[in-house]
Amino acid sequence: ILDKKVDSVLKLMTLEEKVGQLNQYNGFWEITGPTPKEGQAAKKYNDLKKGLVGSMLNVKGVKDIKALQKIAVEETRLGIPLIFGFDVIHGYKTISPIPLAEAASWDLEAIKKSAEVAAEEASAVGLNWTFAPMVDVARDARWGRVMEGAGEDPFLGSKIAVARVQGFQGQDLSANNTILACAKHFAGYAFAEAGRDYNTVDVSESILQNIILPPFKAAADAGVRTFMNSFNELNGIPATGSKYLQRDILKGDWKFDGFIVSDWGSINEMIAHGYAKDSKQAAEIAINAGSDMDMESNAYVEHLVALVHEGKVEERLIDDAARRILKVKFELGLFDNPYKYCDETHETETVGKPAFQEAVLDIAKKSIVLLKNDNDLLPLKKSGQKIAVIGALANDKTSPLGSWRIAADDNTAISVLEGMQKYKGNTIAYKKGADVATGRTQFVWETKINEDDKSEFAAAIAVAKDADVVVMVLGEHGLQTGEGRSRTDIGLPGVQQELLEEIYKVNKNIVLVLNNGRPLALPWAAENIPAIVEAWQLGTQSGNAIAQVLYGDYNPSGKLPMTFPRNVGQLPMYYNYKNTGRPVMNEPESVFWSHYIDEKNTPQFAFGFGLSYSKFEYSNLKLSSDTFAKSGKITVSVQVKNASKVAGKEVVQLYIRDIIGSVTRPVKELKGFEMVELQAGEMKEVRFEIDQKTITYYTANNVWEAESGDFNVFVGGSSDKTLEANFTFTNK
Ligand code: IFM
Repeated sequence: ILDKKVDSVLKLMTLEEKVGQLNQYNGFWEITGPTPKEGQAAKKYNDLKKGLVGSMLNVKGVKDIKALQKIAVEETRLGIPLIFGFDVIHGYKTISPIPLAEAASWDLEAIKKSAEVAAEEASAVGLNWTFAPMVDVARDARWGRVMEGAGEDPFLGSKIAVARVQGFQGQDLSANNTILACAKHFAGYAFAEAGRDYNTVDVSESILQNIILPPFKAAADAGVRTFMNSFNELNGIPATGSKYLQRDILKGDWKFDGFIVSDWGSINEMIAHGYAKDSKQAAEIAINAGSDMDMESNAYVEHLVALVHEGKVEERLIDDAARRILKVKFELGLFDNPYKYCDETHETETVGKPAFQEAVLDIAKKSIVLLKNDNDLLPLKKSGQKIAVIGALANDKTSPLGSWRIAADDNTAISVLEGMQKYKGNTIAYKKGADVATGRTQFVWETKINEDDKSEFAAAIAVAKDADVVVMVLGEHGLQTGEGRSRTDIGLPGVQQELLEEIYKVNKNIVLVLNNGRPLALPWAAENIPAIVEAWQLGTQSGNAIAQVLYGDYNPSGKLPMTFPRNVGQLPMYYNYKNTGRPVMNEPESVFWSHYIDEKNTPQFAFGFGLSYSKFEYSNLKLSSDTFAKSGKITVSVQVKNASKVAGKEVVQLYIRDIIGSVTRPVKELKGFEMVELQAGEMKEVRFEIDQKTITYYTANNVWEAESGDFNVFVGGSSDKTLEANFTFTNK
């Protein structure tokens, strides 16, 4: 029935109007101000009136969205409503933790809930489409956009992709509290050379299939209605112009029937890539490759009609793209009521409502990872303590909002200092100590200690000397990660490292609270500082979440979704690496093995690692059988005990290794995880099932298949600390 409705609209449309549906413009004018008369804004405005715009992005608020929708609906010939897109990446105004932090929760329900909150708030301001989730598997912490994804693992990334898609889109896209999701960036964007944003990507088919594509496939299977292609070239072809990715894989093999939007200007960027000579050829390449909607290149609206008339683009491709976009508009219910998201009273009642604050506080606590806690320095005592709180980030109400929070106002996060001050039993002395950034923007910082730093240091040292415990909040400002924020040094920006070492000289009782949007390399801190808490950029409720963890009102349960290296030179670094022909050194004096002569091979903190105030013990790993065949399965069981006096939660992780394959296999691959809650002293058995699907891999035959042979099974609380068993699979 939907297809019939779409066809009935399509039949009425001129070629120009169909092309118009494929055109997306950025917001262009002050809706409350005068109508633009000249320049680009005027062109956009006129195109909108002529029905040559299908969607807009970066317009926000019911008032503005309604006014634009009114033009589309009431002033164009056919009155086709617009879709309004926005980067609701981790919340709209009420901000959740950055996606990488949420991934550290390994809590799919909480992640889904966070996306539901974002959808409810964003839809209340008139939006109906988010450019999220970013499902790019990322292995290089130099790349600033690792903050926006779910980390380095395709299995965890796939589960989280599904949770986010379900959270945004809900059960019913036409409900007025759900929005369209968009799986991006298709594909390979995170594999940019040297972690430099937008850079060249050259990967094997095996990496593409086994590592990069699974979360996209999972999102497609979960019913995501839009995809965004990518700025990068992939193996010599810009992703935006890749027929292989868009027509063969996504729309062909995966039968995706939603639509693909380009990334911002990525159609025209094919000129700079050296793949198209001008905007017209770029439009031809992109539409032929299957890119349905043009975000801000102005290439489709300018050239597609002529390209059809010249016979360079078949009209059926324009029809197909327009049909996909119209179908999604029907699914959203926009043809029934174009103003369904445009209720000003609902907007006022919904934005920032208390239930949202509770939800983002919940996921913020769950996102925190305890990296070190020597001598049980944490949790802090609730009374009688003198606590020095040091670090510019401790008193920052903007940085915790992180990157990609365009609609949230500065200074709307709870700072760590505010969170801690709610615990009245202790006395707190705060000193900044050092800035995170010294320039006008967050991109500039001094690396040498100057006279101002010396006096800030002195003031911080004075309060630290006098304290029972020092809480130092150090790391990256929220805008030092994100798009275009690649770094060659993933230590602490500015003179924060020097500050940390100076404070350590006068008081060794330091709790280091890290705020960052990517794995950092902090070997000195890992060696010397007794307690380290990974607190990312946790959003609006950041300070409350951190304080509750520091004081033990929440027992940390997060696990790292990305490897933390010892040294930036180890990057890219990930747990599911290949063994190589020279994996381990048996003779310490030999140099001829795969290693560095100046650094260990191991990470500082492994994928899947995270401590708790409880102590968990694993024992009795058992398999129901040590062999299984096609259509059979085995059950893996393990006993997990909370050998402490505090109740806590543990993420139990299952990994496998296929020992010999038609293509070489990673040393470990995550294949399952389960969160168990254990009271003090309690023990539970945790079970996983392994079947043929679990061990399927994209093999040398260029198909997904389970190959016969011997496998290892590993179960534990971290990728580098597991119990081990073995089984054999026969594909018969
Ligand atoms: O959604 C983003 C994308 O991830 C990067 N370029 C701009 C888009 C729209 O803002």
